[in-house]
Amino acid sequence: MSQWIPINTARRLESVGTDREVRGWVRTRRDSKGGFSFLEINDGSCFGNLQVVAPGELDNYAADVQRLTAGCSVVIEGELVESPAKGQATEMHATSVRVVGWADPETYPLQKKRHSFEKLREWAHLRPRTNTFGAVTRVRNQISQSIHQFFHENGFFYTNTPIVTASDCEGAGEMFRVTALDLEMLAKSGGPVNYSYDFFDKPTFLTVSGQLEAETYACALGRVYTFGPTFRAENSNTSRHLAEFWMVEPEAAFFDLADNMKLAEDFLKRVFNDCLNACEEDMQFFDQRIEKGKIAQLQSVVEKPFSHMTYTDAIDVLTSCNEEFEYPISWGTDLQAEHERYLTEKHVDGPLILTDYPSSIKPFYMRVSDDGKTVAAMDVLVPGVGEIIGGSQREERLDVLQRRMAEAELDQSEYEWYIDLRRFGTVPHAGFGLGLERVVQYVSGMGNIRDVIPFPRTPGNADF
Ligand code: 4AD
Ligand code: MG
Repeated sequence: MSQWIPINTARRLESVGTDREVRGWVRTRRDSKGGFSFLEINDGSCFGNLQVVAPGELDNYAADVQRLTAGCSVVIEGELVESPAKGQATEMHATSVRVVGWADPETYPLQKKRHSFEKLREWAHLRPRTNTFGAVTRVRNQISQSIHQFFHENGFFYTNTPIVTASDCEGAGEMFRVTALDLEMLAKSGGPVNYSYDFFDKPTFLTVSGQLEAETYACALGRVYTFGPTFRAENSNTSRHLAEFWMVEPEAAFFDLADNMKLAEDFLKRVFNDCLNACEEDMQFFDQRIEKGKIAQLQSVVEKPFSHMTYTDAIDVLTSCNEEFEYPISWGTDLQAEHERYLTEKHVDGPLILTDYPSSIKPFYMRVSDDGKTVAAMDVLVPGVGEIIGGSQREERLDVLQRRMAEAELDQSEYEWYIDLRRFGTVPHAGFGLGLERVVQYVSGMGNIRDVIPFPRTPGNADF
């Protein structure tokens, strides 16, 4: 009996021996004049392929082996030996090649020729078989694992917040509605919507953030985090926005803004470091083919402290620099992507934590500072992507919170549970949200956010 091993194991010298078996998909076949064939096999366990030498003596050499093309699935048994060739530690000498599934080269879209990322989005079910999407998927997995490990090691409990909700955390109103009402019938009846006939007896939406619910658990368990899908019906067709994305949101009691900033910096450095160490081959690929110098950039980011700046200082920089911006900027206006990128790419050339934004452009839950004009907010910006983290210290004072909610014209009766946290044993607390796709973009250098999530949802597109 042969021992089935994944290709990431088979490619290591320690694995050499007889009676080995690998299972995967053919990437290429090359027939040698000497009457044997070279097969490159990939099973997804790592970036690299295993080279298999299939001798002409195999029973099915002419019938099967010589008909193999890209995409065919195979089970191969044989001896794993040290490879005489450069660039690979091992290779396999096949004693048996069994074809599990053919892939007709006339119709299989992923032939050897390189396809554009735009084209590959149309084949989102096949693109994980390409080098780029395999690498993105493994790095995305590593980041998710590091997120859980980091928070676990730092005493944060993983909790889950609802996906269907009645509250609008960010107050931006960019929410997808959830209903069991028959919209066609409603349209015909023409009358007002009676929510008491709807499933939850009131208007409900897909969550834009689990923060408010996470705060309730932080105000009991101390440190918690949520990590789940998040939905925003923003009509932004950019390379950094998705309608459905994944967000990790830590929330900690007895944390102030400085604690929160430190947490965010330690956290990001841990994630970057893990990717450099655990995904070496994938990172090499990104470094060579997607964004030159990515590895050195991440290494230097991990070693140096992040830059800090207040929003007010950032406005000074932006209004006194000689850059032409499309959107005008002055104190009290929100930063656009172009401003964020100028600051992080040209002004500091590295990650930048911006703090103390005007209260007028930030949500009701952020803590109002002593100046009365700014809130204890922090955004982490990185070159190439812009904002990857948004967070703040939360308003823990009952009267101030209620005043801010009134200003934001929120229906306080819907948020009594949230206000209760300030009525009973209130504590300073803080947290942030990191967009998983934005961090995958930054680590990989991938230019478009649609290419770092398996099945992107964007305006006008919910295929697959
Ligand atoms: O800055 P945001 O809107 O913050 C919040 O939702 C807070 N409630 C988080 C908290 O304090 N617990 O979003 C947080 C992060 C952004 O920095 C960005 O990385 C990501 O979520 N994000 C998006 N990612 C992809 N597509 C979108 N449309 C995104 N909107 C936000
Ligand atoms: Mg934000």
